Amino acid sequence: MPSVFIKTYGCQMNERDSEAVAAQLVAKGYSLAPSEALADVVLLNTCSVRDNAEHKAVSKMENLAGQFRKHRPGVILGFLGCMAQSRGRELIDQLPDVDLVVGTQKFHRVADYVDDLLAGRRSKIVDIEEEHGSEATIKEHLLNGTAKAKPVTSFVSIMQGCNQYCTFCIVPYTRGQERSRTIPDIVAECRELVSRGVKEITLLGQIVTSYGRRGGESGKVGKRESEQASVAGQNPLSHSPAFSPALTPFVQLLDAVHAIEGLERIRFTSPHPKGYGQDLVAAYARLPKLVESAHLPVQSGSDRVLKLMHRGYTRARFLEIIRQLRAVNPEMGITTDIIVGFPGETDDDFAETLSLAREVEFDNAFVFKYSPRRDTPAAAMPDQLPEEVIEARHAQLLALINEIAEAKHKVCEGRVLQILVEGPSRKNPARLEGRTRANKIVIIEGDARHIGQLLDVRIVRAAPFTLYGDPAILNLN
Ligand code: 5AD
Repeated sequence: MPSVFIKTYGCQMNERDSEAVAAQLVAKGYSLAPSEALADVVLLNTCSVRDNAEHKAVSKMENLAGQFRKHRPGVILGFLGCMAQSRGRELIDQLPDVDLVVGTQKFHRVADYVDDLLAGRRSKIVDIEEEHGSEATIKEHLLNGTAKAKPVTSFVSIMQGCNQYCTFCIVPYTRGQERSRTIPDIVAECRELVSRGVKEITLLGQIVTSYGRRGGESGKVGKRESEQASVAGQNPLSHSPAFSPALTPFVQLLDAVHAIEGLERIRFTSPHPKGYGQDLVAAYARLPKLVESAHLPVQSGSDRVLKLMHRGYTRARFLEIIRQLRAVNPEMGITTDIIVGFPGETDDDFAETLSLAREVEFDNAFVFKYSPRRDTPAAAMPDQLPEEVIEARHAQLLALINEIAEAKHKVCEGRVLQILVEGPSRKNPARLEGRTRANKIVIIEGDARHIGQLLDVRIVRAAPFTLYGDPAILNLN
């Protein structure tokens, strides 16, 4: 049978989607190629969130096409995911060697399309249609043994799409409107994963805190909220009468997943700050498996910019959430995303972002240069900033974030922290790698029997992005 190589760009949801596509292809008898050079089918699962992510995937495809055209013209080349969704057929016009373009609601069709192309039944396939129920089409991403042996951690997709329409963001146009899976459906998937040895589950969605707020019917791509017809969709919670209506659907889901025996840790990403109501803050105190870690994208420290971005909270409200989370647990690991150079961002606005970063002392942050995206309101706003200004602000903020992150790492030296051992370290496979509850990476010495265990280790050294645990403490376990 032919072999497939899938390269993934972008977020965890994309990683999860690639796993799902790989699982389907393997179920049909395909093998996974160790490199693109040896593959009969090469699929790039793409990201559109910033221009450079698109650019990387396009240049990669140009290289692949050039490489294969002469010596292996039969190799099937495909774009999947977000850029495929937003650009569709245009990608084949630009790169005529591409055979397949499949959008974000059609991952479950990829294996059939690859069959058709290889068998010569069809020559070019573009499928970027919407599909009812696409949020729940593929669950078997780890279940048939295609992934690494006995994974300790796993992603579970709980919802798709986003209706927040931040003015800079392409996601509502690439992932469509919010659609949530039901609680029983999600819990069944989690149970299955746990029965196969998974200890930690990360619940995934573009805006997980909006889980279950809208019906499961609509997957419309690219319609603004104001234009939408109201949808009488099914309520994802309708099968769960036992849950208190006082809790938001997302917290009800956390409760249901928390009840799974054998599951040790729950994470989720990405939430929206406006979803951090009292019930979610309280959940961190109430649910011991919900680890003290929050990735809370702030985007800017300036109220003026937050408003232009359509974020739906103020700087003061964001700081209040952080205060509440740390009051529940002072060990809370807090990370964020920040965009610099949003249209019209002044020196004063940027100074507000710097001061917010100093005030919060994030454990880490992703700092992004604003990148205009097609069809988004911000791309048409006046006062787009010159590249040099954006570059300079990016460097300045990044230096500050790194300085704070390093200092926060340093204070871990000498402390005993619980880690979940995930497997061999990516940098040095002779060692093991795990993460603390607050999501910090810890390297230890140990062997295969430690994989999947929760261990208390003493931190002996803190490097800027990695902690090192003491093997002597490990040996006591
Ligand atoms: N330009 C720069 N960064 C962006 N992000 C989203 N859209 C853009 C854009 N147009 C960032 C946000 C988001 C993260 C996933 O990507 O910070 O939280």
